[in-house]
Amino acid sequence: MSGHGAAQPMTSAPCGALTGVAEVPGDKSISHRALILGALAVGRTQVTGLLEGQDVLDTAAAMRAFGATVDRTGPGAWTVQGVGVGGFREPEQVIDCGNSGTGVRLIMGAMATSPITATFTGDASLRKRPMGRVTDPLALFGARAWGRAGGRLPMTVVGAADPVPVHYVVPVPSAQVKSAVLLAGLNAPGQTVVIEREATRDHSERMLRCFGAALTVEDAPEGRVITLTGQPELQPQTVAVPRDPSSAAFPVCAALVVPGSEVLVPGVSRNPTRDGLYVTLLEMGADIAFENPREEGGEPVADMRVRFTGALKGVEVPPERAPSMIDEYPILSVVAAFAEGATVMRGVRELRVKESDRIAAMADGLRACGVTVEYGPDTMVVRGRGAQGVPGGATVAVHLDHRIAMSFLVLGMAAQAAVTVDDAGPVATSFPVFGPLMTGLGADLRAG
Ligand code: S3P
Repeated sequence: MSGHGAAQPMTSAPCGALTGVAEVPGDKSISHRALILGALAVGRTQVTGLLEGQDVLDTAAAMRAFGATVDRTGPGAWTVQGVGVGGFREPEQVIDCGNSGTGVRLIMGAMATSPITATFTGDASLRKRPMGRVTDPLALFGARAWGRAGGRLPMTVVGAADPVPVHYVVPVPSAQVKSAVLLAGLNAPGQTVVIEREATRDHSERMLRCFGAALTVEDAPEGRVITLTGQPELQPQTVAVPRDPSSAAFPVCAALVVPGSEVLVPGVSRNPTRDGLYVTLLEMGADIAFENPREEGGEPVADMRVRFTGALKGVEVPPERAPSMIDEYPILSVVAAFAEGATVMRGVRELRVKESDRIAAMADGLRACGVTVEYGPDTMVVRGRGAQGVPGGATVAVHLDHRIAMSFLVLGMAAQAAVTVDDAGPVATSFPVFGPLMTGLGADLRAG
């Protein structure tokens, strides 16, 4: 919901070794998709391990508004009684997607090829983010959209009454745009083709197939060519949501910078389209073991064991890796601050249109904590302080961005002086148990 309450400052003080088992919540991307595809199937989908963060709860409320019956039956256990492809009813109220770009963009796609009208809004962060990247391709199906200047929310989308299938080359590396087009293609007759030049997270493709859609993926010279046959009858599924690698990143990276730590994070998705942070950490010299690899709910999963070694070195992160770690640059920048030498991140312009301008937010916060950072439109360089340590001792503005808040709380755990974030409230969007989970491992987190 967009009504973000009073700011909730939180302080993270330097702490002793972090030890124990970190059971991080379900994957946010997969949770959104399970609810949306459940709502578009005919019959009852059961979901376990659903992330009960505010972003996903807002998507659940939206699916109810479009006519699905969505119930919580236990912790992380939800059922969705779907209305079928093309079965969405017109919502009576404005759809409030809160802080969630994924929620609003995927839902716009899912409704854009039905003859209904919906108005979308969100919190102050979401209302700044560009929606044209989604409404442009949706217009090719025949949908129309009116929003504020620059394609900003609030925005009204009038779904196409007679949608036509689309052939679309995604101009930015974005799983949200790809997924919006695929979801719109569900209710268009014939074949919708989406081409992405750079592979982005493929949860939509995997899950559409699980629900019975005819979808093929081909690696061609122009990129990944995804072909979806429209107007399938989606079959309800049982979806087991794996734990979120983007949330696992926080206890993993905390253990890498707090001396003496050893943490086990079980059951984390190891989907290769989400793996870039872990590839980078291994290159930096991190001690991370992936134990007990297996498949759960159509996704590769492993238990991650991470040990502090203290010998991390800065690396160059190549631009082609960006889509597979796009949400992890904030926490990588924190690890980079503790490493020896510079970490150079290239091809990161998409960070500027996330929940905040993450390049500016990280640079400002790191500088306030005594770390040298340089950046340009598409690059960021963090000069690691290595043996000198990170001073910390600052109050950092998080700009309604959960990952900026969690990153600086991790920095405070290993800095020379405590770090305060001006508002930890947004953490509840993706990782509602971050505070108790990190405190249980040994972190010193306090309100205020
Ligand atoms: C997501 C895609 C990414 C990511 C977001 C979740 C998704 O956004 O940053 O947190 O679930 O599809 P973009 O597709 O805009 O890069």
